[in-house]
Amino acid sequence: MLEPGRVGDEYFMTRGHLHAVADRAELYFGLAGHGVMLLDTLDGGSEAIEINPGQAVYVPGHWVHRSVNVGAERLVTLFCYAADAGQDYDIIERAGGMRNLVVATGDGWTTKPNPEHTGYQLLK
Ligand SMILES: [Fe+2]
Repeated sequence: MLEPGRVGDEYFMTRGHLHAVADRAELYFGLAGHGVMLLDTLDGGSEAIEINPGQAVYVPGHWVHRSVNVGAERLVTLFCYAADAGQDYDIIERAGGMRNLVVATGDGWTTKPNPEHTGYQLLK
């Protein structure tokens, strides 16, 4: 469950991660609320996919991911992933955040480039 709210124009989000075993995928299923799955590849790809009740969102392996609550109510999701996937939570912090921010437009949401993003670096 992710509470609704914003800091400035940026919506509340999860910390986000890349799976420590990076090729492990994950499936999210929307149960309540209105959200966005924000996804980045390490080499420049980026996607933002809506999460709504009754809809599944597939997160392929090798994608950094976080969920964002863009609604007025709690975002509730069910998710499952391989037990050995693990999480590298620090990869986003080392990069100055994900490539894009999810922000309010007045009547919805959009993404905009994160000026503090410096690129992803894997630890050896
Ligand atoms: Fe995950």
